[in-house]
Amino acid sequence: MKSEINEQPVAGQMAIVTGAAQGIGRGIALRLGRDGYRVLVADLRLEAAQATADAIVAAGGAAWGIAADVTRAADRAHLMVSAIERGGLDLLVNNAGINRASAPLDVTEEHWDVVMSVNAKAVWFMCQEAMRHMVSRRSGRIVNIASIAGKMASTLNHPIYNVAKAAVIAMTKTLAHAGAAQRVRVNCVCPGVIETSMQDQLDGAFAELTGKPPEQIRAERLARIPMGALGGPEEVADVVAFLASPDARYMTGQAINVSGGMMMF
Ligand SMILES: NC(=O)c1ccc[n+]([C@@H]2O[C@H](COP(=O)([O-])OP(=O)(O)OC[C@H]3O[C@@H](n4cnc5c(N)ncnc54)[C@H](O)[C@@H]3O)[C@@H](O)[C@H]2O)c1
Repeated sequence: MKSEINEQPVAGQMAIVTGAAQGIGRGIALRLGRDGYRVLVADLRLEAAQATADAIVAAGGAAWGIAADVTRAADRAHLMVSAIERGGLDLLVNNAGINRASAPLDVTEEHWDVVMSVNAKAVWFMCQEAMRHMVSRRSGRIVNIASIAGKMASTLNHPIYNVAKAAVIAMTKTLAHAGAAQRVRVNCVCPGVIETSMQDQLDGAFAELTGKPPEQIRAERLARIPMGALGGPEEVADVVAFLASPDARYMTGQAINVSGGMMMF
């Protein structure tokens, strides 16, 4: 019997990737560009976002850099309008995120507000805005970038990051339920340790908190990865591309680890 679950091929579809000026977001945007998506490359920093877009165009794709702070409602609305003006939004990748180190008992309300605002609240409201559009079209996919930190509270030294990423996993499941009947799929990816400037910044902050040299922090982190290697943005991007593709058409509400075996549930 033929399956009742169908999705269109992705070539020519419109995608938004937030936080795509560098790191994992840039890797995702480049991969989606190669797959034939038209990509809106959103970031706080327009010039760097445009550089990602230019790299997609230079490789034969279509992309535009766009300045957006995902914590601002007006910027989120502008992003959606920019996609709709270009024919509608097929894929949203919520990748923008920040990390902040602190010992758990030293967390201030300001720390909580800043981290939760970018990593959790903005993801919810980006999803909400995109889903209103997608549900009315009865098609669309969202991939949120969570973290294994949301499942295992991977270190005590970025406690609110852990809380925010757990929230992303929970909202992915809630919204997957909300969109399932209209065939809007919502999944998330949980990266482990990926080599980006976020990791470099954390090494320095952890060194300061623990008094250990950054090289020791890095060596201890590596020792916790069963595959014995850090990941790169490409490893995350490939799984995002799969979740967004028709190959994953019967998957929704999932939180997929990309962690070299660090997280196995
Ligand atoms: N690097 C890792 O090991 C790792 C592991 C697990 C999850 N993640 C997640 O992957 C995502 C990307 O991380 P990365 O390592 O590439 O980080 P990064 O710091 O290299 O890049 C983050 C990008 O997001 C942008 N950004 C930050 N705040 C923004 C805002 N308010 N609006 C728009 N853009 C904003 C930054 O300008 C930057 O370009 C984050 O959600 C992060 O939590 C990273």
